Amino acid sequence: MEWEELYKKKLVSPDEAILNINSQSRIVVAHACAEPKILVDALVKNKEHFENSEIVHMVAMGKAEYVNSDMKKHFTHNALFAGASTRKAVQDGRADFTTCYFHEVPKLFKEGYLKVDVALIQTSLPDEHGNCSMGISIDYIKSASENAKLIIAQVNKHMPRTMGDSFIHVSDIDYIVEHSEPLIELCPPKIGDIEKAIGKNCASLVEDGSTLQLGIGAIPDAALLFLKDKKNLGIHSEMISDGVLDLVKSGVINNKAKNFHTGKMIVTFVMGTKALYDYVDNNPLVEFHPVDYVNNPIIIANNDKMISINSCVQIDLTGQICSESIGYNQISGVGGQVDFVRGATMSRGGKSIIAIPSTAAKGKISRIVSVLDEGAIVTTSRNDVDYIVTEYGIARLKGKTLKERGRVLIGISHPDFRDELINIWEERYRCKF
Ligand code: COA
Repeated sequence: MEWEELYKKKLVSPDEAILNINSQSRIVVAHACAEPKILVDALVKNKEHFENSEIVHMVAMGKAEYVNSDMKKHFTHNALFAGASTRKAVQDGRADFTTCYFHEVPKLFKEGYLKVDVALIQTSLPDEHGNCSMGISIDYIKSASENAKLIIAQVNKHMPRTMGDSFIHVSDIDYIVEHSEPLIELCPPKIGDIEKAIGKNCASLVEDGSTLQLGIGAIPDAALLFLKDKKNLGIHSEMISDGVLDLVKSGVINNKAKNFHTGKMIVTFVMGTKALYDYVDNNPLVEFHPVDYVNNPIIIANNDKMISINSCVQIDLTGQICSESIGYNQISGVGGQVDFVRGATMSRGGKSIIAIPSTAAKGKISRIVSVLDEGAIVTTSRNDVDYIVTEYGIARLKGKTLKERGRVLIGISHPDFRDELINIWEERYRCKF
């Protein structure tokens, strides 16, 4: 049968598609801004059909109504990351959390740690061969689809046709819901003076010809502001947002110095505005690959001069990094932080950077602390960290003793907290600072 005919046969309404799911299924939802909103809405609307279905999702950018108290009988939520809309549910115990390096998430599906019954995906319109692109998030959803018993797709003309390993053929989809609507967007963050100072310090570590991984938020975007005079930068990153577009347009990011995937940006998902989504549409210069490839530390390390820039919540004086909880409260997840810290560390000429404002809570709390808060999770081990950057400077931890680590970290802490940290350091090591 021709794919066009198959496509027509598979067309159903959102309710029809969702009512084909067995009641007690594990349902994996496409990630971040690629969430198929019409399907998730239909899931919630048809809640009476479900009893104890498990919804697996990572950064949930939609409404995530399935975590509401009145959904308890129908859905449980297994979060791979506690994002804004699911954080409270995880903290209150209404949802549970699976801790896992991002690059290993596909393995959970492939090897049956998390058996996938249903994948809810969102795709572009099919091309002339019947291939639909899963668009702006390939990460774990490619693997979830390949291992699912049932695949339901929202086909949306606004979903970019992204290049790389991003395609699924119409014949592999079970039910198709045609529904075009603008994708979820993420507005560029506000960049203040502190972020600018941190960004400038980060940029000073970036040599011409480096390949970058940038986390999400104001600090990575601020670092990009200070890279305008660099040459031949490349991108091999879990994700990118709008911040890179200016440097791409000006030719600073041209990927020419990359020693593989030369000339191309490599990502596993993107989050941003329509301008970014338009840029990646049909653009062979940006390749999307599954996260077990993009975030695999060995693959990352094959890039010479690999620079990773990520952030954290707290760092203790020995270098232990907490990036995902405030005390016992899970606020995010490991994501790709450790994947890229390790990949950059193994890269020839690579540097891993953890960049933070020196304080939190409007200056009331130091992020550089003598010990992590009770319950705080060590996201990145002190054996893995290297460069720590604040608005007060750069501390390099690799090869340093515990005393030296304390000294350099106190040196980049906020002046209001230095005396207190020095006292604790002197008491602990029984010597003068
Ligand atoms: N004590 C108490 N509260 C703290 C704190 C601390 N030490 N550090 C941060 N906070 C609070 C902030 O005040 C802020 O509160 P608010 O939302 O009420 O303003 C909140 O925690 C978030 O902190 P902030 O640093 O502003 O968040 P961010 O958006 O810059 O994200 C991380 C920082 C660490 C949470 C985020 O980078 C993350 O989740 N990292 C792990 C995953 C990762 O690195 N992935 C890499 C590739 S994308």
